[in-house]
Amino acid sequence: MKKSMISTIIVAVMALGLVSNQVMAAKPQARCKVCHTFKEGGKHKIGPNLFAIVGRPAGSTDFKRYSKALKKGGWTWNEDNLQEWLCDTRKAIKKLSGDDHAKSKMPPQKICGEKAETIISFLETLK
Ligand code: HEC
Repeated sequence: MKKSMISTIIVAVMALGLVSNQVMAAKPQARCKVCHTFKEGGKHKIGPNLFAIVGRPAGSTDFKRYSKALKKGGWTWNEDNLQEWLCDTRKAIKKLSGDDHAKSKMPPQKICGEKAETIISFLETLK
């Protein structure tokens, strides 16, 4: 292969990487979609449907695989507890459920601060 062709390919691959990074930066919620649908009436995936999640009682969909703590629920999703959930799921599930041994089935996302705010603002549009 000619050298110039190789460098063209390298530049193209780098450009693609940049574009996808920008897409991820603009839509941090994209990563939730691996496990959640945002669509009204959409099928649960690895995690429950998140349509109209803001203002909804925790663990209140017909998702079958909630952890014990989420199934029991007892709190409503608002901006504050969503922040905690996205930043430190392990700590949040204990605090929200009031049970020091509670565990969530959602892998920690470690999304904190502004990034979490961007996602929550997006979640608020789902209604
Ligand atoms: C690897 C899969 C996975 C990813 C990625 C993921 N989640 Fe989850 N999520 C889950 C699972 C599983 C549950 C159920 C947790 C339980 O029962 O303890 C859940 C539960 C939730 C709940 C509680 C829903 C309810 O009905 O009470 C919210 C809110 C939530 N996720 C938001 C998010 C957001 C926002 C993102 C993206 C930043 C995200 N999740 C990324 C798997 C995931």
